[in-house]
Amino acid sequence: MSDSAKQAILDSLDIGFRYPDDQRAALISKIAEINGVTESQVSLGNGSSENIRAVVQMLQTKALKDGKQFQVVVPDPTFAYAELYALSLGESVVKVPLIAENYDLDFDNLQKAADEFDGISLFYLCNPNNPTATITATHKLKAWINNAPANHYFLLDQAYSEYITDPSFESGVEWIKQELSANLIVIRTFSKLCALAAMRMGYAIASPQTTASIEPLCR
Ligand SMILES: Cc1ncc(COP(=O)(O)O)c(C=O)c1O
Repeated sequence: MSDSAKQAILDSLDIGFRYPDDQRAALISKIAEINGVTESQVSLGNGSSENIRAVVQMLQTKALKDGKQFQVVVPDPTFAYAELYALSLGESVVKVPLIAENYDLDFDNLQKAADEFDGISLFYLCNPNNPTATITATHKLKAWINNAPANHYFLLDQAYSEYITDPSFESGVEWIKQELSANLIVIRTFSKLCALAAMRMGYAIASPQTTASIEPLCR
């Protein structure tokens, strides 16, 4: 944790008895500014784990309202929270093994899992992936998201994106700004590079419409 972060924590101890509504709003503003999006595109979570849970829950509710089925499709292995939240909400999870030779996403089988399903599918994609530390080729991922049908959603978890040195990597936040897909949600966290895991701060960036249905689930 940086010295300035430690100092900021010490400086705020005296207001620790208050609920942090104003600070929450200020942090949303700052995250929006840093990422070049509007405040209406930022949803703040108690760690990005809460953002993952909120996205799963938001789509479960949407599916219920629309009278549709809902499933979560995950590569295997990957960070388990999307799977665990879906299972705890009684939803089904399809696990699609990574390609054995290079740990890349098996796009064909991921797509097949959703195409064969009559309802809403959420792909949870961790890029770079935990635990394989691999990244997915940007052009493939971008084209896949761009061409997806309206009932396919993408939760792009970029918890480790600050560590990437590969110049071909594009942040999903840029894709949100380019309005690549209304069904794309990108999550980031202060837990890794900033070493603030115990402070529980993560965020989701999406279109204003999608954010409006996630943000109320993060309070
Ligand atoms: C890929 C990935 N996403 C999200 C998280 C959750 O992080 P946090 O809830 O602290 O933001 C982790 C934690 O290990 C992770 O590895």
